[in-house]
Amino acid sequence: MVDALLGLQWGDEGKGKIVDVLAENYDIIARFQGGANAGHTIVFNGEKYVLHTIPSGIFHEKIFNVVGNGVVVDPVSLKKELDGMKNNPIDFKKRLLISRKAHVTLPTHRLLDAASETAKGKAKIGSTLKGIGPTYMDKAGRNGFRVGDFELPGWKEKYRFLVDKHLKLLHCIDVDIQFDLKELEEEFFDAVDTLKTLPFIDGERYLKETLASGKKILAEGAQGTLLDINFGTYPYVTSSTTIAAGVSVGLGIPPTHIGKIYGVFKAYTTRVGSGPFPTELFDDNGARMAKIGHEFGATTGRPRRCGWLDLVALKYAVEINGVTELMMMKSDVLSGFNEIKAATSYRYMGNEIDYFPFSIEKKFVSPVYTTFKSWGEDLRHITDKESLPEALETYIRFIENYTGVPVSIVSVGPGREQTIFRN
Ligand code: GDP
Ligand code: IMO
Ligand code: MG
Repeated sequence: MVDALLGLQWGDEGKGKIVDVLAENYDIIARFQGGANAGHTIVFNGEKYVLHTIPSGIFHEKIFNVVGNGVVVDPVSLKKELDGMKNNPIDFKKRLLISRKAHVTLPTHRLLDAASETAKGKAKIGSTLKGIGPTYMDKAGRNGFRVGDFELPGWKEKYRFLVDKHLKLLHCIDVDIQFDLKELEEEFFDAVDTLKTLPFIDGERYLKETLASGKKILAEGAQGTLLDINFGTYPYVTSSTTIAAGVSVGLGIPPTHIGKIYGVFKAYTTRVGSGPFPTELFDDNGARMAKIGHEFGATTGRPRRCGWLDLVALKYAVEINGVTELMMMKSDVLSGFNEIKAATSYRYMGNEIDYFPFSIEKKFVSPVYTTFKSWGEDLRHITDKESLPEALETYIRFIENYTGVPVSIVSVGPGREQTIFRN
């Protein structure tokens, strides 16, 4: 059986924390898309770790962590991540498995990302500049380099052919990107040696066999539904399939094997990078969310834009993914606000609508809010659902009624223990 855990907003919902909490119920945690653009924060043994490519089951003794074929792997970023794990008392290296069919991000993919963003000027996506778009472009364009290629003779020629293509492209884009290819390649080849110390697997065969033996898999999403390449706020999206359907293609698992779909969302909304955001706040409330929620990107350190919960967008995400359980994160951040709001419809080109339209650009969409009573209580030390303030329960029940899906977990802090199970 395979369950999936997905972000329902624009990423950074708290997926890493919840995977770490749920991991003990699974044998395998598997990432199915994204790459070094992800930043999943886990607080373990009082220390904060930010995972980019490594699945969030890594802090558990017995769990196997699979980097699936739908992920793009940057050996340089992965080596840094492994180096950052030196204080992790758990020996995980034999349990971190890399799919041969995962594509590889080369140093020149990162350069192309930077060049493309610079060329876009004001219209830039706000990419994390980790080379994600160019790596998936090469994959879809049938030019990509895969992890399994490293095991084949002649991989350096294949690498060189692709790099030469990238250098020509960089020349065509014609923006001033400074780089020292020799230095970048030294770093890359060194990191490839480290990558090769990890077990490579045929992910789809490995997962088929583990499923046949009755083991349980949790598929860990990166980014969020509104950043999905097909159904997100295009073109301000990432280049992978972040939604539930991505689990199948990103792991080689038939859709009929997928069971529960956990949808993770913040009690408010954040977005990092460019793109429309109807409920974005530019007032004291937004500043307060940013400050109390420490809303800075885990990968780039950029400040995250903050705003009220957008239930129109949340319902859209619930429906696209077929979410069976909701998990509300960072509820503690909303303590002590004068009042709380959530968008429950949009005014769209003169009409009031309750669905997520083709464009949510500010010039077409303005949110229509429902206002809720807030709660003054500090939630961070609450351990049981009976102690949740009535005003918070009212907010949660409204969300359940609006989306038609139960909220099974309320998170009240970054730690494992700050997790309240409602059902
Ligand atoms: P992810 O990308 O979805 O895994 O989320 P990030 O790690 O990028 O961002 C979530 C941030 O919120 C991290 O700093 C977490 O440690 C933190 N966090 C997670 N859950 C909670 C919560 O319930 N309350 C608070 N205050 N922080 C949380
Ligand atoms: P996690 O897994 C939040 C955003 C970037 C940019 C857009 C495209 O931590 O939730 P890309 O680097 O993919 O070309 O960037 O997507 N973005 C994220 N925002 N959380 C993430 O991952 C993100 N990964 C990419 O800021 O707007
Ligand atoms: Mg993140």
